[in-house]
Amino acid sequence: MTYLPWYVGYFSGKHWLRNIDYSIDDIFKVLEAARDLKMKFHLGVETPYLRGKTLYLIFYNKSLRTRNSFQTGIFQLGGQGIYISPDQVYAPTLPEDMVPYQTEAIRDVARVLSRYGDGIAIRIYGKPAKWIIGRGHRIIQEFAKWSNVPVLNMEDDLYHPFQALADAMAALEALGWPRDLRGKKFVVSYAYSGGLKPLAVPQSVALIAAMLGADVYIAHPPGFELLDDIINKVKEYTQYWGSEFKIVNDMDEAFEGATFVYPKAWSPKGFFPPFSADGKVHEEEAKEYQAKYKDWIVTMERLEKAGKPYYMHCGPADRGQEVTDEVLDSYEKSLYFEEAENRLHVQKAVMCMTMAKVVR
Ligand code: CP
Repeated sequence: MTYLPWYVGYFSGKHWLRNIDYSIDDIFKVLEAARDLKMKFHLGVETPYLRGKTLYLIFYNKSLRTRNSFQTGIFQLGGQGIYISPDQVYAPTLPEDMVPYQTEAIRDVARVLSRYGDGIAIRIYGKPAKWIIGRGHRIIQEFAKWSNVPVLNMEDDLYHPFQALADAMAALEALGWPRDLRGKKFVVSYAYSGGLKPLAVPQSVALIAAMLGADVYIAHPPGFELLDDIINKVKEYTQYWGSEFKIVNDMDEAFEGATFVYPKAWSPKGFFPPFSADGKVHEEEAKEYQAKYKDWIVTMERLEKAGKPYYMHCGPADRGQEVTDEVLDSYEKSLYFEEAENRLHVQKAVMCMTMAKVVR
């Protein structure tokens, strides 16, 4: 018989759409569970805590880290992950977009998959969500409303909870696993990319840094403001801890004296509904606007001038745009690959916590 650690089934049957749906204490519990799983992974200790369980992974967008860390993770827990591409099934769709025999109502897809397996994970943002900010999150909420098994958010247009958990784990590890991040300056900054990237990562990272007690700085050029609800929530957490919160429009000013810098691209919301003045999508104009800020790039000089903070990025980082090759390949305080690895461990933790049915 397999000995089950405390965290198996701890949140049995619950969805994981946003970290802020859980308490600060719950987040620390997830990170402790992930730490246990990471230690066992490196020691080669088997962890068959979800033997025979199935997780369905529905990807409306591309992925390297998320897909492979979830599929590998559920396998290492004794279960299986089944990849679903919406164009190879009847695309799971909201009621207003149904096309006969091409799409299937999310409410039906969720209930069918709930009859077979033990969890449904979804990624959707950008074009598959019609570039309407918030629509991806609404689609995942629709799955959660109808699913009888846990729904896991693998990134929508507002939140990327597992990325933020992995990042929080990397930050704590870098400091030797203190109780929290109080007294540490954590900068979430814009960095240039020619692509259109969602708000999910900067929003989720700012939120988790605030939840863990850090002094949170957000740096971006004008037009790249995060959503008001997110900013208000970050403020709420920093007030709870008595930590600092500041928004600045200068990367170097924000980096000065930081412990962690997290510079990455996101797209200016004013070019997309519901924030665009005409309610329309302006992809090309957004890219042209972004191109004005090519000097928001992370270089070795910039990091040295700031006092050598830990460098963080969710990946994939756009080399030569968001960051130089030199930083990614040889900066000694880069957490880039640790963050990527930690996706495996935090996701295994949450899968164990939510997908196991345990009678204690
Ligand atoms: N960070 C992240 O979610 O990476 P992928 O897009 O490769 O899944």
